[in-house]
Amino acid sequence: MTMTTKTILMVDSIPEVALDFMNKTHFEEIEMVKALGNIVSEYQQNNNQEKQLTISLEHWLKHTKAHFSRENLLMMDINFPMYSVHSGEHSSVLEEMENIVNAWKNNHDIALISDYIFTTWPNWFNSHVNSMDMITAQFALIHGYDATSVPDSEK
Ligand SMILES: [Fe+2]
Ligand SMILES: [Fe+2]
Repeated sequence: MTMTTKTILMVDSIPEVALDFMNKTHFEEIEMVKALGNIVSEYQQNNNQEKQLTISLEHWLKHTKAHFSRENLLMMDINFPMYSVHSGEHSSVLEEMENIVNAWKNNHDIALISDYIFTTWPNWFNSHVNSMDMITAQFALIHGYDATSVPDSEK
């Protein structure tokens, strides 16, 4: 399980961006994926936790949807010039996650889920936070957005 540990550590090392509400969401998501990783490992070893895995995947999907729409809202609030690039990445990742979760529900392919949770998603998350989220938060701060504020519909 060396590879698993390595990936989780990498997720731990993602940097903070300039806005609190974004960091809070990222932190929550990392915790969720860590918990998912434990459930996946448990399923792989003992072939149990099937229902818990489905529930946790759905919960994670829901959290991700809220995460992305909140950031999309922020970008509209601040007239972020790269809105389409950043929100486009959100859309494609959400679609990918929905496909993965549906595939799990349909055929219980644990290898697919495992690969996504331990490799694909952490790599994507790390690079997305380091690029799109970082730039968006910095842009917001430079243009007078309060670091402790939240997008309009969240108030
Ligand atoms: Fe984000
Ligand atoms: Fe984002």
